[in-house]
Amino acid sequence: MSSAFRADALAGKNVFIAGASSGINLGIAQGFARAGAKLALISRTPERIAAAAATITGAGGTAIGIAADVRDYAAVEAAIRQAHDTLGPLDVVISGAAGNFLAPVVGMSANGFKTVVDIDLIGTFNVFRASFDHLNTPGASLIAITAPQAVNAMMFQAHACAAKAGINMLIKCLAMEWGPAGVRVNGISPGPIADTEGMARLAPTPEVEARYKARLALRDYGTKDDIADSALFLCSDNARYITGTILDCDGGSKLGDASANALKTT
Ligand code: NAP
Ligand code: COA
Repeated sequence: MSSAFRADALAGKNVFIAGASSGINLGIAQGFARAGAKLALISRTPERIAAAAATITGAGGTAIGIAADVRDYAAVEAAIRQAHDTLGPLDVVISGAAGNFLAPVVGMSANGFKTVVDIDLIGTFNVFRASFDHLNTPGASLIAITAPQAVNAMMFQAHACAAKAGINMLIKCLAMEWGPAGVRVNGISPGPIADTEGMARLAPTPEVEARYKARLALRDYGTKDDIADSALFLCSDNARYITGTILDCDGGSKLGDASANALKTT
């Protein structure tokens, strides 16, 4: 366990996380639970989100799991109201639900493109918009999970690139509009993170995984704890003057190809 969380860093804080039944967002939830936060978690699938909440309560933490699809504004609003009623006003809201698959544009239907934009971008709007009246202000912190695809074009990722680019701009607009109300809005852009569905889809074989790592400045995948630690920093008082920014926790992914072969001309 590499997490740098203090046991009491989030004591008394209420945290809502969308897309928290697995992967990076569940890792953030578990890290926040270890730091003393009380959690409300949502995802589409009732069994998966109940199991995620159970891993936290089973370890002595406080968590409720609510089934809600981030594409459905009314369902998101109801989940956030339930979280507020159960835990109290929300100190931190994290939007991390996403869908992705590798497909060239000519192999992607209009509905395939729309589905990813709906989950990632519209879903993030829905989560943040619905949370506004339930935030503990001043001092609330919102975090969207974006990706290097937001700024680096990537083959077979037109849908995710467009959706995550939209999220980056939404973060900045909300930071401007909601800053005066005492709400900070930031993003985290993870690089390739080990043991996640995202990387299982983008690097499905050991050969592709090795190529990914060889191109990274830091030459290795990150961990879910790396992202949880970034989230803890962004919602802490140490980041009290930071808003509208994207924290790259990516091993240098956004910098481009750092392999020894990158500049070879022969
Ligand atoms: P993951 O385990 O598949 O996490 C995605 C989560 O979103 C799941 O909990 C899923 O749960 C939920 N979800 C999907 N569609 C939803 C919907 N319509 N409504 C509500 N919840 C929904 O994937 P991950 O790889 O950890 O990715 C997590 C986040 O990190 C994503 O935002 C991704 O873009 C970002 N990211 C990941 C990497 C990486 O290396 N993995 C790199 C950069 C960025 P249900 O199926 O139960 O709904
Ligand atoms: N290639 C091309 N198109 C694909 C595809 C693929 N690999 N996978 C799905 N699609 C298309 C479908 O064909 C459909 O389009 P159509 O109606 O024109 O046929 C559209 O995408 C929606 O698919 P559907 O399965 O109905 O959507 P869903 O809402 O049930 O699931 C997904 C959403 C497709 C993103 C699914 O992969 C998912 O649930 N992902 C969540 C987990 C995840 O992606 N984790 C990684 C996060 S980075």
